[in-house]
Amino acid sequence: MDDRELVHLAIEARKRAYCPYSRFAVGAALLCGDGTVVTGANVENAVNGLSLCAERVAVFKAVSEGRRDFLRIAVACSGDHCRPCGACRQVLFEHAPNLELLLGNPDGAFVRTTIRELLPDPFSL
Ligand code: THU
Repeated sequence: MDDRELVHLAIEARKRAYCPYSRFAVGAALLCGDGTVVTGANVENAVNGLSLCAERVAVFKAVSEGRRDFLRIAVACSGDHCRPCGACRQVLFEHAPNLELLLGNPDGAFVRTTIRELLPDPFSL
């Protein structure tokens, strides 16, 4: 699974976003250590605060299916590239403190970063 393929899977996942309130669709594709890819899309709700970002959908799906080893996540949204929210940064750090991120747009262009770069002073117990 190369980086461009992973970004493409995030772009495909983005098409499954449920975002009638913000109309801002986001897709994520999380690459696990065994090569499996778990996707996610943002899922919104009429009640403020109950919406979930694409990144957390992917991580929670993966962890709840017994996966714990994460190498890389691609995230796709409109605009130049995605910037994961603070809550997602903390959740990503919890499960993958050495995670690489590919932050992309629907054209397939992406920038590369790490969770340590995005969350330089994380909370941990
Ligand atoms: N959103 C994500 O799913 N991931 C991000 O990285 C940024 C924001 C979602 C949350 C909400 O459904 C919509 O985008 C607008 O904030």
